[in-house]
Amino acid sequence: MNHPAHVPTTPKEQPNVRSTDLLNNNTRMLGSSPIRDLLEKSFDPGIISFAGGNPAAEFFDVEGMSRSFQAVMDRYGRRAMQYSSTDGEPEMRAAAASRTAEMGVPTDPDQVLITTGSQQGIGLLGQTLINHGDVVLVENPTFVSALLAFSLQGARFKTIHSDENGAVPESLEEAIRRWKPKAVYLIPTFQNPTGSTLTQERRTRIADILAEANVWLIEDDPYSDIRFTNEKHIPISADPRLNTRSFLLNSLSKVLAPGIRIGWIRSPKDVLPYLSRVKQASTLQSSTIDQLAAAHYLQNNDLPSRLAPVKAEYMNRRDHLMKGLMAALPAGTDITRPKGGLFIWARLPAGFNASVMLESALLAGTMFIPGAPFYVEEADQRTMRFSYSSNPVGQAELGLTRLANAFAEPPLLVQ
Ligand SMILES: Cc1ncc(COP(=O)(O)O)c(C=O)c1O
Repeated sequence: MNHPAHVPTTPKEQPNVRSTDLLNNNTRMLGSSPIRDLLEKSFDPGIISFAGGNPAAEFFDVEGMSRSFQAVMDRYGRRAMQYSSTDGEPEMRAAAASRTAEMGVPTDPDQVLITTGSQQGIGLLGQTLINHGDVVLVENPTFVSALLAFSLQGARFKTIHSDENGAVPESLEEAIRRWKPKAVYLIPTFQNPTGSTLTQERRTRIADILAEANVWLIEDDPYSDIRFTNEKHIPISADPRLNTRSFLLNSLSKVLAPGIRIGWIRSPKDVLPYLSRVKQASTLQSSTIDQLAAAHYLQNNDLPSRLAPVKAEYMNRRDHLMKGLMAALPAGTDITRPKGGLFIWARLPAGFNASVMLESALLAGTMFIPGAPFYVEEADQRTMRFSYSSNPVGQAELGLTRLANAFAEPPLLVQ
């Protein structure tokens, strides 16, 4: 018998099930990212935000990028507008391989999978490597969107102790012995959120440990080109013993523009076809025209010299913000001095809770990110992350005045 489509269903026929109850188990368990939710607030033009990790938009090379798009359209417009390979355009793979080689990690273009931002790379690695219940070792705190991507695969997180010099090798060794992890996720250079950098000595020690263990290394490195000193940091993945066990993620987001969404994974050659199939399942390919334009830009512009004035201004902003934070935050606050990247990490004195202070800061018209959401265990409620990249000094000054007002009468909260 045919029923007309509009016949109302009775509760008996269709019990009151929420549509979200019908999502798959992994998705249903995911909370929204507290940081993404907070960043929504930073779009309010009335707020001076130190929250997001945005590069300074006033330094974007709009003319140079327009020239590259135009050149690509003039030279091969039809190709640029057509479907293309999942692995990436040959020009972009070659450019990515040479950037990775310049970092000290010899790389062939056929070891490179182009991704739509390195966040897609993290997601693909999660999908390709992690079985439900597998342990992933992470620094505590670490990058929240990586936690989100691995959570989606049902990863369990265990932590490696880290300090101002990055992950502690002995802690990694102990965690590998104890938890038998599937993968280790590290951000060795100018870490998000703490800004800390793993020393070269520790990198060597960690490579020694990983070379002996049957564990994947996922090394995430979007910030190493935003370096304020001459000290070069060679990725852990440069160690040839890790060639078959490490993935190095990189991106143009922080050095060219995040809106173009170009990143890449340097992968063991035999694993790359699997990553490529997983990518194909979700997105077929990254944008053809964006890859061609980015590759053209890299071939025709000297990125390091373009970055030099940007880094000089970031240092200026870092110093200004550090000085301002010392004045605005209560006496006894610890404030880091990062040697690169985009973030200052601060820790309030005992009795303060950064999430509570954020409420006061928002009322005063400014914001930062409380550190707690970056932790997978034992969240330190006194920590906070400030980005110095996106506010010119004059605007940061106003934000700091507002921050000082927020702390003038702080709602104390004993932890
Ligand atoms: C540590 C880390 N990894 C990856 C990403 C993602 O960058 P992309 O814009 O390339 O996706 C970010 C962005 O902030 C990051 O901080």
